[in-house]
Amino acid sequence: MTDLHIVILAAGKGTRMKSSLPKVLHRVGGLPLIEHVIRTAESLKPASITAVVGHQSDAVKTALRRHPALQFVVQEPQLGTAHALLTTEPVLREKRGTLVLLSGDVPLLSANTLKKLTDRHERSGVPVTVVTAVVDDATGYGRIVRSGEKIARIVEHRDATDEERAIQEINSGIYAFTLDGLFDALKNIAAENAQREYYLPDVIALYRGRGHGVEGLIVADIDEIRGINSRAELADVGRIVRDRKNAELMAAGVTIEDPATTYIDPGVRIGPDTVVHPGVSIEGATTIGTGCAIHSGVRIVDSTIGDRVTVNNHCVITESSLAPDAQVGPFAHLRGGAVVSDGARVGNFVELKKTTLGPGSKAMHLAYLGDAQIGSKVNIGAGTITCNYDGVKKNQTTIEDGAFIGSDSQLVAPVTIGKGAYVGSGTTVREDVPAGSLAVSAGKQRTLEDWVAKKKRS
Ligand code: UD1
Ligand code: CA
Repeated sequence: MTDLHIVILAAGKGTRMKSSLPKVLHRVGGLPLIEHVIRTAESLKPASITAVVGHQSDAVKTALRRHPALQFVVQEPQLGTAHALLTTEPVLREKRGTLVLLSGDVPLLSANTLKKLTDRHERSGVPVTVVTAVVDDATGYGRIVRSGEKIARIVEHRDATDEERAIQEINSGIYAFTLDGLFDALKNIAAENAQREYYLPDVIALYRGRGHGVEGLIVADIDEIRGINSRAELADVGRIVRDRKNAELMAAGVTIEDPATTYIDPGVRIGPDTVVHPGVSIEGATTIGTGCAIHSGVRIVDSTIGDRVTVNNHCVITESSLAPDAQVGPFAHLRGGAVVSDGARVGNFVELKKTTLGPGSKAMHLAYLGDAQIGSKVNIGAGTITCNYDGVKKNQTTIEDGAFIGSDSQLVAPVTIGKGAYVGSGTTVREDVPAGSLAVSAGKQRTLEDWVAKKKRS
């Protein structure tokens, strides 16, 4: 089998994005553009993957640090795509086999197409095979100029004649090269064009001039080779990614009431018979079980949700987990490792941070529960607040099984409310409350009779 080496071009500035962020770090489907490309590349199990970085190379390298096998070469200054590929010579010079060139700004290319590309390239024995597509609007792309059936050369949009601009077959910027002789060929490319850049597509005419054959692979699905150069194209590709995910989930039995306003990242898993209402975002590494209802205006990030869970309108749930049959919201905020156990309920205007709410426990209205371990069948009254921060550090609150916290209570941590204990309404709890006891701190009520009438007379 021939060795496969993959190079990803990502050194360009992405001027048309008008951004302080490098183009390849803009996100679609929750991931930077280049992350999509790397994942596809990795799925082919190549002998090496090299990213050519340049503009804000440190930011790009940092964003990709989770790929330890990825090697980087820096292209500085950026003199064009042929020059970019040539900068990999020091790391690939000794290698033999096939080099597949990908673009960091073309995120939807499939592994399947790349397999077809390497198969075709290796069977034909030509030095270069280029991936092309026939599109309605070819503006901006390099055009494939054929003589008869054969590809003769590629001409960039800026350098093309009117006649060439009418060609609808375009260069995707994706190629397979035979490594043997490639770098020598690249060194013979000149920057004689409108942009004074070294154009990689010129290698086609160069090889043809030397009497070599050149192959093309036409992809039918033009979405695969969409390059992103502007914010509008970023939005277009984002829509394609979402549509695919929604279609996949609906085919697997998830109801999505309004796919146009539903934003589900590619890595999310959802069980059948779950209903997702309009205007919902489900992001990152989130898993949702079967038979759940996710109502409008909800955002869920990196969380795990069991079966038959109801998330009412306008909840924000990040890095949290909800056990089967839990109910939360409307207007709840669960974050930083919140756990809502089986059958537990969280109501409106309740925030849980790094807190476990035990099985069957309830916090139905207006509460802040932070750094708390709450047992089973506990009732948290409206307006309960764990005072978890003393200005220096965060402290724990423990509330044992069956305890009852009356409304408008403050639990000053660190503090423990024992099993079955009661806290009276409006109590500021500063000391532990033993199991089975009642804690009250509000003073005796004073009632001044006829006070209103007397006040008016005076
Ligand atoms: C390129 C092709 C064009 C093709 C199109 C497909 C050239 C000259 N043109 O045009 O034929 O139709 O892609 O999308 O190749 N890059 C570097 N270093 C550089 C220049 C660019 O790493 O010096 C990188 C960019 O970051 C980008 C990729 O190469 O990831 C393509 O560059 P871009 O400027 O987007 O080329 P296009 O004008 O789109
Ligand atoms: Ca491009």
